[in-house]
Amino acid sequence: PDLAVIVVAAGSGTRLGSPTPKAFVPLAGRPLLEHALTAVFRMRQPAQVVVVAPKAHADEAQAIARRVAGPLAGLVSVVPGGATRQESVVGGLAALADGIRTVLVHDAARALTPPALLDAVAAAVTESGNGIVPGLTVVDTIKRVTGDGAVLGTVDRSELSAVQTPQGFPREVLDAANRAYSGPGDTTDDAAIVAAAGHPVSVIAGDPLAFKITTPWDLRRAELLLGDTAS
Ligand code: C5P
Repeated sequence: PDLAVIVVAAGSGTRLGSPTPKAFVPLAGRPLLEHALTAVFRMRQPAQVVVVAPKAHADEAQAIARRVAGPLAGLVSVVPGGATRQESVVGGLAALADGIRTVLVHDAARALTPPALLDAVAAAVTESGNGIVPGLTVVDTIKRVTGDGAVLGTVDRSELSAVQTPQGFPREVLDAANRAYSGPGDTTDDAAIVAAAGHPVSVIAGDPLAFKITTPWDLRRAELLLGDTAS
């Protein structure tokens, strides 16, 4: 394939209140990573899949990936994660096969992301050559506030987009941007790294189902949504 998906799954479960790393927390009986990979393997186009997992969970990640991939297991590899999300992405990039031209970076924590969103991002990268990020309009009124809660002002929400993953890029652009990047080490946004390198990034329509499971409330919401689709 000339498409690859790096699924970053090496984060902790701290905000979920879980001792288990988040990607391995069960949702309706299956780990978040398994849900996320199921969508990746339902994409229209076959893709190389690199799962970036905590070292201590490499075997478990491998078993999940094999289970989901079935006959496509040859397309999957598991690599150890880094201390930050960006380091994890760089680890994933190092595992890409030579022929890969387009890369999607996807959070395992966005477990309910529909395959159609992955397809749409991949197609938009191929068509435009830009970095592509799915985003949703912001419905709440957003205030800028001080640390102690005093309101400084209202942000013009027509200029805002709440961005999700998968984020897609031409492979050489994402590689070069990560090599050149010297900003804060804790950035959680690949598009910011690519934009910092001067490459254009565009937003396409995201999907509410691509929400990131971060808190126990998000996990509950995901369970309810799965119950809906199963019935
Ligand atoms: O912590 P947060 O929810 O923002 O993480 C987003 C995604 O990045 C998750 O899927 C998480 O597993 C991944 N991650 C990673 N390596 C890290 C930190 C986060 O792969 N060091």
